[in-house]
Amino acid sequence: MEKKKFYITTPIYYPSDKLHIGHTYCTVATDAMARYKRLQGYDVCFLTGTDEHGQKIETKAAEAGVTPKEFVDRIVEGPQGVKDLWKLMNISNDRFIRTTDDYHVASIQKIFKRMYEKGDIYKGAYKGKYCTPCESFWTESQLVNGCCPDCGRPVVDAEEEAYFFRLSKYADRVQDLLENTDFLQPRSRVNEMVNNFIKPGLEDLCVSRTSFTWGVPVDFDPGHVVYVWVDALFNYTTALGFLNDKYDDYDHYWPADVHFVGKEIVRFHSIIWPAMLMSMEMPLPGHVFGHGWLLLDGGKMSKSKGNVVDPYILAEKFGVDALRFFLLRTFPFGSDGNFSNESLIQTINVDLANDLGNLLSRTVSMVGKYFGGTLPDVQAEDAEKDAELVQLLTSLRARYEEQMEHYAFQNALAEVFKVISRANKYIDENAPWVLAKDLEQNGPRLARVMYNLLEALRMAGILLSPFIPASAEKVLDQIGACGGCRTWESAGTYGSLSRTAAVQRGDNLFPRIDAEAAIAELEAAAEAARKAALPAIELEPQLTEPVDFDTFCKSDFRAVKVKDCQRVKKSEKLLKFTLDDGTGTDRQILSGIARFYQPEELVGKTLVAIVNLPPRKMMGQESCGMLISAVHTEKGEEKLHLLMVDDAIPAGAKLC
Ligand code: MSP
Repeated sequence: MEKKKFYITTPIYYPSDKLHIGHTYCTVATDAMARYKRLQGYDVCFLTGTDEHGQKIETKAAEAGVTPKEFVDRIVEGPQGVKDLWKLMNISNDRFIRTTDDYHVASIQKIFKRMYEKGDIYKGAYKGKYCTPCESFWTESQLVNGCCPDCGRPVVDAEEEAYFFRLSKYADRVQDLLENTDFLQPRSRVNEMVNNFIKPGLEDLCVSRTSFTWGVPVDFDPGHVVYVWVDALFNYTTALGFLNDKYDDYDHYWPADVHFVGKEIVRFHSIIWPAMLMSMEMPLPGHVFGHGWLLLDGGKMSKSKGNVVDPYILAEKFGVDALRFFLLRTFPFGSDGNFSNESLIQTINVDLANDLGNLLSRTVSMVGKYFGGTLPDVQAEDAEKDAELVQLLTSLRARYEEQMEHYAFQNALAEVFKVISRANKYIDENAPWVLAKDLEQNGPRLARVMYNLLEALRMAGILLSPFIPASAEKVLDQIGACGGCRTWESAGTYGSLSRTAAVQRGDNLFPRIDAEAAIAELEAAAEAARKAALPAIELEPQLTEPVDFDTFCKSDFRAVKVKDCQRVKKSEKLLKFTLDDGTGTDRQILSGIARFYQPEELVGKTLVAIVNLPPRKMMGQESCGMLISAVHTEKGEEKLHLLMVDDAIPAGAKLC
């Protein structure tokens, strides 16, 4: 029998910066769904990729002094790049598209032309704001205080020739799709789309730009590049070979069964995307699911705000599966969730270390201890004592499936953990250590208790495999599950495990984490990362208030030689300098620079001091003048360098 197909996608990511845990969230969820469908026997195509065109990338590349293609290549293919991250996270995508791939570019040109020839794309004028010196078009919302966001100068009203897509033509059909089908999920997102965007009147969409060049060129009108969202959305079809020869399974996989997308891009996927597909007369995807954001301290993570969490650090510290599990177990997929190291560690300790880890290690070690690792065939049921666990096991797959079909990962996992908790309780109720005292009498009953525990682990292990693929396999290895009893069918059939299963003791899969120590380490790593992300060098802003020349000339700067330098007692900051200022009388200056210099290293140096400041008392001692230093901030840390001049300059020489 031919397998049913299932086509699922993540958004394609902007490779403008290294990806963070928020990006990882959606890809892990998509991966769990794809693995679940494969487990069920579907012929799955799972697509992810990168969205590489647009002004933002062009600008960032220019700032980095490389071409846009070099810039995106580094973030997509380079070390700790997008592809590396998905490999690390054990993402099982079948395809990876880059919108700079030639086949995609060629398809987009054909798609654009088709909509143009149909009359759904037409040429018009894009009204906006123009910065003449920068030769840049801006929208009202891009302006900063009404001025050009690049150079800060005033802008003027201007018109730019551009192509438009007749979005308005499809407004009624899109509204009907949203209101009367389950196309957009969760349902709560429908009202927002209809009330905020469709009902106020859908305007035609500007779908070409002439103000920058990093995009797919409109081949019949040089100077125009295709709007990045048109280029990006059609990736879901070009990656299957739509209007190109690179792949040829468009007819097989399209339409997508579901697109998983973050909530801020639901508008593009639920209004613009179906409208363009209608224009192209292509079938519509089954669902668009708009998931919530992972927040940090209540706000969306963003590199520019400096509040991102690095998945590499977490995966290295806690393991890939623990991180995958945490993301889908802790937050309802459709809503926002607050990320914290505390909740990550708590989820690992409670669910994985305590509940699952303990059930596995206790069960496997008891089968080893009481039966030498292999269960005897003769087993004795106890209808009353087994009923609740067996009933939970028998119904587990259906309850899990019901949740997975609604993309309710958290609930699906809750069903599995209900069984795991019940199995742990079953150990206590049946007290195997008591039964084991008289194996002759209780052996068959003890064997049955063990069998039921292994069954619980087997069925849970199979259903956990989409979430924690590597660890689930180890669970199944340790309980001696054969190939045939690792399948979706067998996950629904209590009793599939051989009665004489042989366990194999393995590593502790999820060691308990010392929360306090781990949090301290993570905070130190986050602080180091925050510092590393700070601008390398920050300078004091220059003063703009003019000082008249005569006033300036009143400041008397002199070369001074350090005769002696000591720390000031009881002060962490002050150094006391005895200086030769050329007058024949020693000058004493106190300076708050003890953090930056050892006193001995300064003796003999020629410095610069302003000598006609009124004397000041500091820590009970007099300071006559001030030494001149250069100061700046580097990676968030204050730096100071005393101004030292050529030792050939005599003490007392005037600086002017
Ligand atoms: N390039 C577009 C998508 C085009 S799809 C045809 C884009 N890229 S993105 O890199 O900015 O975001 C990719 C996905 O990551 C989006 O779905 C976005 O919602 C998701 N996330 C980015 N930060 C996130 C969180 N903090 N939490 C959850 N998801 C978040 O948009």
